[in-house]
Amino acid sequence: MDAHNQLVAGLKAALIDERTTAVFYAQMRDISRNYAGVEAFAEARKDELDHAREITELLEDLTGVTPPEAAQPVTPPSFGDYCQGLARAIQGERHAFMEYSNLINISPFARVNKALDEIRSDEEVHLAKFCKLYEIMCQANYYQTQQVNDPAVEKK
Ligand SMILES: [Fe+2]
Repeated sequence: MDAHNQLVAGLKAALIDERTTAVFYAQMRDISRNYAGVEAFAEARKDELDHAREITELLEDLTGVTPPEAAQPVTPPSFGDYCQGLARAIQGERHAFMEYSNLINISPFARVNKALDEIRSDEEVHLAKFCKLYEIMCQANYYQTQQVNDPAVEKK
């Protein structure tokens, strides 16, 4: 596959991922029990919807048509409790950051790379907020010790 086709395929996968994540984050927002959780997930959901719109536009420019991935139904991941959802969100943000970095590496288009770099920066903000939320909400004795070690989130 040449770079153009590889980029189009990667952007289509990213588009599905963004739209799926937006649905997932609405669920996380609605079950959050403190302001920090609502704030982090409401903001991240809005960003993911913006990303989906931007990626749709990039694909329209690259291919000349609106990709079917912009409208196909998506199913959010299932998760157990809030902390499991949060761990999943953290994993997803790390994954998204890596995927965008890969796409930037293969893309020869300055406009695409600028857009993806901005999207990647948003994912970095989400990751930082979710990691802190995980420490506060999901690690025992956070307020007692104020000592934070490596978060108990599996790294990929
Ligand atoms: Fe995103």
